[in-house]
Amino acid sequence: MSRIKILPPHVRDKIAAGEVIVRPASVVKELIENSLDAQAQRIEIEIEDGGKRKCLINDDGVGMNREDALLALERYGTSKIESVDDIEHIITYGFRGEALASITQIAQFELETSDGSQGTKIEGTAGTINGVNDSQRPRGTKIKISNIFFNLPARRKFLKSAEWERRLIVELIKTYAMITPHVTFILNDSERSIVNLFAVDSMENRLKMVLPKNIADALTYVERNMGSVQISGFFSRPDFFERHHFNYIYVNSRPVKYPRIYRTIIGAYQNPKNMPAFLVNIQVDPTCVDVNIHPTKSEVKFKDERYILDLLTQIIKKEVFRTTATVYYETKQNDLSTQQKRPGATYPPGSFVQEHIVPYTQEETKMDTGEFWQLHNTYILAQTKSGLIIVDQHVAHERIIYESIMKGKQDGQRLLFPITLELTPEEYRAYKNTKPILKQFGVEFKEFSARTIVIDSLPTYTQVNREEIVGLFNEINGLGNLMKQKSELAKVLACRSAIKAGQKLSPGEMQDLIDKLFACENPYTCPHGRPIILKFSLEDLGVRFGRE
Ligand SMILES: Nc1ncnc2c1ncn2[C@@H]1O[C@H](COP(=O)(O)OP(=O)(O)O)[C@@H](O)[C@H]1O
Ligand SMILES: [Mg+2]
Repeated sequence: MSRIKILPPHVRDKIAAGEVIVRPASVVKELIENSLDAQAQRIEIEIEDGGKRKCLINDDGVGMNREDALLALERYGTSKIESVDDIEHIITYGFRGEALASITQIAQFELETSDGSQGTKIEGTAGTINGVNDSQRPRGTKIKISNIFFNLPARRKFLKSAEWERRLIVELIKTYAMITPHVTFILNDSERSIVNLFAVDSMENRLKMVLPKNIADALTYVERNMGSVQISGFFSRPDFFERHHFNYIYVNSRPVKYPRIYRTIIGAYQNPKNMPAFLVNIQVDPTCVDVNIHPTKSEVKFKDERYILDLLTQIIKKEVFRTTATVYYETKQNDLSTQQKRPGATYPPGSFVQEHIVPYTQEETKMDTGEFWQLHNTYILAQTKSGLIIVDQHVAHERIIYESIMKGKQDGQRLLFPITLELTPEEYRAYKNTKPILKQFGVEFKEFSARTIVIDSLPTYTQVNREEIVGLFNEINGLGNLMKQKSELAKVLACRSAIKAGQKLSPGEMQDLIDKLFACENPYTCPHGRPIILKFSLEDLGVRFGRE
């Protein structure tokens, strides 16, 4: 009984048609997906001339019997769906039954496959079968595609250099290998070994093989299950400043381009100057995502997109920022091994750097006073378990105030000595315009003669000084329409109210600032995107001093 069937016309009509083969990497992509769908544990790829002369893929998957092997080459021949309903819950990479038909149209091909009992070898050229023979191969499938586009010279002309085409293939293999760590991937180019990724037990271990160390070290694993949605992945610490292009999005383990997800992740980091590194896999019930919207299957659409986007933002803000916060801020007594035994705490198996995953709690992170130093009345230096951190006091305070305003905590504090201000006409105009808004933030006034006002109450965080208050009127007034946006107002208020560079702080004040900073959702960047904390590990220092 054959497993592959030719899709009937009414099903074909429902699938976004036209498998697109444009270059060797598209061939390799389709063949890797087929091998993974066939549950291969080992995928060996050989290319020549960047795949232009040869792309060969050999797997140890379930293979095919002769009847299936012949049907597999036909357009709409697929074992993955049968009916229109099946399109609603696709769990395989493929589903259209078009790839092998398209690929074998534009090249010379050999398909050698066995289901473990019957081996078959089919040879042909440009869609025509020239020979079908027995084969002795073990279970699995080998497909060799030679001289891609030999019959379409116009297309062939568009291929780039072997080097370029090969790089695309390597990147593609990496993309699939990261999400399938238990599969061995091998790539040889004209007998030269290019990729050699043996099977490992976790994505962490696979990433360590694939990524440069600085990126791997900057990543934290997080995972969240919400009913039928599971989001898991690796995200860089918010203070990661390297140049890189490590951004991977998968939906049900399928690598996809999903601009909205991408923008949501970047947005959650609130850091316009820095690109986060991340790899995220969003697992949903297959009925909740449409994979049939793009010919290359590289774009998908969630039915309830808003929900997924919100969840992602939450995870990054709550889990990524929180779990990474303590890296810098641990007491000396605070032994990791005892923390890990704490009931209720969850840790991913074998994370990159254990330090990065200790959840922050106030209790655990008390640092003795006297461990802080102030440098030029501007920066706070603190010793941490793993080295040294330097905190910019102004932006740190800015962040604390900003988050407190955004959370709606803005009680005014009655002033012991109300401040009398005599305003210039221009300042007075600014005051008039901003008065209703400032009131909402806990500022209270009395108006006297012409342009004299008395301030009775100010937000708790505000520095009491004429210049600051007048500056506040002017700056808020300058926001124009943006005045109505709470986050914009909060930025101005925070910046105006925060302690300045050059201001001397007592050890107690430093302690208080650092405590509050690490209680923030994002202690790493100020509301304008500037970094707050610089970190120097003992390891970094050791290297600088030539100790290792
Ligand atoms: N490496 C492989 N191992 C086993 N079966 C395969 C392999 N490649 C293709 N097939 C079979 O051939 C069929 C057609 O493959 P393809 O043209 O890529 O379409 P699709 O993957 O969309 O079903 C698949 O449905 C599968 O049954
Ligand atoms: Mg396929």
